Amino acid sequence: MSERPQWGNKLGIILAVAGSAVGLGNFLRFPVQAAQNGGGAFMIPYFISFLLLGIPLMWIEWAIGRHGGLFGHGSAPFILNRLWRNRIVKYLGVIGIFGPTVIFIYYTYIESWLLGYAFFALTGKLLAVATPEGMKGFLTAYQGLASGSNLLTAYFFFVVTFAVNFFFLYRGVAGGIERLCKVAMPILLAFGLIIAVRVLTLPHITDGLGFLWNPDFSVLWSAKVWLAAAGQIFFTLSVGIGVILTYASYLKRGDDVTLSGLTAAGTNEFAEVILGGSIVIPAAFVFLGVAGATAAAQSGAFNLGFVTMPLIFGQIPLGAVFALLWFSLLFLAGITSSVSLAEPAVAFVSDEFGLDRRRAVLRLGVILFILCQFPIFFLGQGVVDELDFWGGTFCLVLFGTIETVLFVWVFGIEKAWEEIHHGAEMRIPGFYKPIIKYVTPLFLFFVLGFWFLQQGLPVIMMDGVQEANKPYVLATRLGLIALFVVIAILVRIAWYRKKALGQIK
Ligand code: ALA
Repeated sequence: MSERPQWGNKLGIILAVAGSAVGLGNFLRFPVQAAQNGGGAFMIPYFISFLLLGIPLMWIEWAIGRHGGLFGHGSAPFILNRLWRNRIVKYLGVIGIFGPTVIFIYYTYIESWLLGYAFFALTGKLLAVATPEGMKGFLTAYQGLASGSNLLTAYFFFVVTFAVNFFFLYRGVAGGIERLCKVAMPILLAFGLIIAVRVLTLPHITDGLGFLWNPDFSVLWSAKVWLAAAGQIFFTLSVGIGVILTYASYLKRGDDVTLSGLTAAGTNEFAEVILGGSIVIPAAFVFLGVAGATAAAQSGAFNLGFVTMPLIFGQIPLGAVFALLWFSLLFLAGITSSVSLAEPAVAFVSDEFGLDRRRAVLRLGVILFILCQFPIFFLGQGVVDELDFWGGTFCLVLFGTIETVLFVWVFGIEKAWEEIHHGAEMRIPGFYKPIIKYVTPLFLFFVLGFWFLQQGLPVIMMDGVQEANKPYVLATRLGLIALFVVIAILVRIAWYRKKALGQIK
């Protein structure tokens, strides 16, 4: 077995986890979710989900990851097997490799648009476009979706983005990911602060803030709002994906998880609520008014980030500089998340097949590069939405539920509590014990059940998918099933290989 990597220091792991958490979800997905789900009132289910799901899952993932790492395992199938020695549990853990890999496949492509847009902000080409139609046209041409356009530019920036991701992965955990996050996180937080201050000093900004934050309490009776809040918490904190347990597997036995997990989660919430909540929607309100801001929020995260924001920057002094800061901030937020999405697969291959990390990274690089071609060439056929649904929504809640039940109920709450507190720099208040034991799993079951009824069934039946896109969506689904099966077979092979070597009993 090759020597397992370790983090350089505590700040490094906190920034790496915060880097995984702070991503496009904070600056684009969160404001849209909040604006579409009751504005200020969204924050009630949001914070309840943060306290009852987000923070407990953070601690759970840090603790089980560190526990698995002690036995040389950094990926979910083998980590979960440490919690429950059972023949099927490793196959449940496949979700913890499959989910992040699926997100990585489309996330990296969207991240590459940000690099492209940062470049065009720098050259002045972006802000030369002054109308909403023009800016939409710019985006569809960039994506190769407009007639007569091609994918050359987007492909170039994708290749660069992909290569940068794999450069840091190749450099290793402390030498690559940790270094990246130590540099990128302070920069992106500083850029976020600068843009937030600029937006907050716009005339009439209080009306813009009011538009986002004035609560509409009637929405609290809607299950959809609660689902949106819980889903946002999962996505933004990167919990339930499978990445945090892998990062935590590189901790040492005596390393703290309680305060560190909380600090990483707190950093994410600062970036999300304070920065993410002050930028796009309030700015859209100031420039577009109620109707325009509502339309922008309804039109989704891409329109807001790639169409509305550049138009706004085009109207303020030094707009090109702010546009450059905005797209650079998003790119940095994206890359510190995407490296974490690739890491579970890297950990699986290197830990369980005994492959040297660099070789594992190179091999996975080839496979992931091939898989990334699908969202690039079939963006207009609904492939990204389909990948986002399974990888970015369904698997998160399902995997979060599985790991919680295994840790708290099968491994046992007493042992779990002790495990979380080993080396802890902060004792978790006692009332969290019954929360983690009863409330978190119950809440998760409710979310899973309601979500399945309200959103899962329609998606499975492909309601709302354009007729012409259905064959592509179906093909994506079959491809995903094939990917899941391949990972499950690899887990099985690794398992018997380790058994034969006497490394697993
Ligand atoms: N947590 C990451 C984000 O918010 C995936 O984008």
